[in-house]
Amino acid sequence: MRILVINGPNLNILGTREVNIYGTLTLAQIILELQNCVSNVDLEFYQSNHEGEIVDAIQRAGRNQVDGILINPAAYTHTSLAIADAIAGVNIPTVEVHLSNIHAREEYRKHSFSAAKCIGQIAGFGINSYKLGLCALIEHIKDSKKK
Ligand code: DQA
Repeated sequence: MRILVINGPNLNILGTREVNIYGTLTLAQIILELQNCVSNVDLEFYQSNHEGEIVDAIQRAGRNQVDGILINPAAYTHTSLAIADAIAGVNIPTVEVHLSNIHAREEYRKHSFSAAKCIGQIAGFGINSYKLGLCALIEHIKDSKKK
């Protein structure tokens, strides 16, 4: 099983960025923890600060038989119809995750363009949002392969 983990803008500076909101874990530490929590799953990681590059990565996943996408679109969650359309367009089961509880923050963070194109969204649990999202995605893929 192949899963692509996509991280959007400013997640490359986790660890020093607004630590009161996002904590002190770096993206490299999050990646290591995710790798340690799965077996027999091929995890690939991609981070970009650029909207079009994220669209390209989602389209590549569509061409390359990726089974699932775990995505934290970061600020593009709230602005990007292009990323939402890319998720809808490739037809790969996708889970959206957020470190912080976007529903308990500023009004403009409460809406996600991408979540409606995903099988689900997990927010507010820090690194555990990624772990829970990954676990749910793997189970979803296993279930759909049984059918
Ligand atoms: C975030 C929440 C977004 O609103 C914000 O722009 C981010 C991080 C999160 O993981 O909590 O960059 O996606």
